[in-house]
Amino acid sequence: MTNPRALSTLPNLNDAERAHGERVAARLRERLALAGGWLGFADFMQLALYEPGLGYYSAGSEKFGAAGDFVTAPEMSPLFGRCLARQCAQVLQHTGGDLLEFGAGSGALAMTLLTELSQLGVLPSSYRILEVSADLQQRQRARLAELPDVLRARVEWLDRWPAQPMHGVIIANEVLDAMPVERFVLRTDAGHRLESLGVAVAASGQLIDSLRPAPPLLAAAVERAVGSLPQALPAGYQGEICLPLPAWLAGVAACLEQGVALLIDYGLPRAHLYHPDRASGTLQCHFRHRAHSDPLRHVGLQDITAWVDFTAVAEAADSAGLEPLGFVTQAAFLIGCGMENVLAAATSERERLAQAGEARRLMMPGEMGEAFKVMALGRGYEHALRGFAWQDLRGSL
Ligand SMILES: C[S@@+](CC[C@H](N)C(=O)[O-])C[C@H]1O[C@@H](n2cnc3c(N)ncnc32)[C@H](O)[C@@H]1O
Repeated sequence: MTNPRALSTLPNLNDAERAHGERVAARLRERLALAGGWLGFADFMQLALYEPGLGYYSAGSEKFGAAGDFVTAPEMSPLFGRCLARQCAQVLQHTGGDLLEFGAGSGALAMTLLTELSQLGVLPSSYRILEVSADLQQRQRARLAELPDVLRARVEWLDRWPAQPMHGVIIANEVLDAMPVERFVLRTDAGHRLESLGVAVAASGQLIDSLRPAPPLLAAAVERAVGSLPQALPAGYQGEICLPLPAWLAGVAACLEQGVALLIDYGLPRAHLYHPDRASGTLQCHFRHRAHSDPLRHVGLQDITAWVDFTAVAEAADSAGLEPLGFVTQAAFLIGCGMENVLAAATSERERLAQAGEARRLMMPGEMGEAFKVMALGRGYEHALRGFAWQDLRGSL
């Protein structure tokens, strides 16, 4: 997502949005009642984003692009997918096989990748999409129906992880940041060392933040994450942790027999993520291009995300048998993939100017260039990866 305006006042909801928000809140109250009045944040986030027919990603609102709430790199410019295609082509030339995209959003990246890979003459045998949102899957089908038949025929949607291990490339752009996280607060000066920041309902019916002693699973995971930091975190420090991450990476490892997984997201090495300078964590909500930090507003109508702990990704990948092959900023990745050559192929002055602006947004440090990182995880792949030739940040993990 690009850097949206940070704003405390949000645009008003229309009648349909207000009615939808009330349905989501009613479901949440039901769930809270069943759970004894308190939900951990990850359960809340799972419902707010993915509850069938209600959650932000599962209901029908426009999410991506100018008419939605945020802009991702593939939505901003095909330049992103055209560069990424060059990295995919390099891997596919060695491995053959398939391309599997997790969380394909509107289908914009699949559209660009297939078109570009066809022009590069290195098409995957199939382009598989694993998408948790039934609504987005419908949108992807409609969008990709615009492809020429010869490309469209290669696209298939999976409703579960592939049964057979694959050769080829796995891609996840801004998927890890959309996985449910737990929120925690460190109490280094009190009896409860760690608290879990969840959600409860006030007597007025209003959803409210609510602290409970952290359950053992969360406490152990946070202890593992923050216990080895080079700097102590202050009492009151608040952060997030993604507990499903290791299982997801174990799934990636289980389905990749030979090839490379490319994970692209905003995030940091652990020592920078859990840092006294970020004492309120990194949770952000997006509603119509406004960013704010209150997940209890507009529940079901806004996106909720948290920055990725790339050290956790590398550790989980390593435990699952995948090798971290590279870790770079998005800017370095796009340069390594040949952004300069892609730009040089513009056929008119108008196109050249438009693309120069798009490339700046993808690559400038204040935009998506530095906050976004690209991590390559491999198995049975021994060739240098072009997107990782310009930088090597693995030492920071
Ligand atoms: C922020 S959007 C990014 C969409 C798209 N990749 C892009 O860059 O425009 C997150 C996407 O990941 C999907 N998603 C979240 N968790 C997922 C999971 N565990 N498996 C597959 N898709 C997932 C969401 O439904 C959504 O399509």
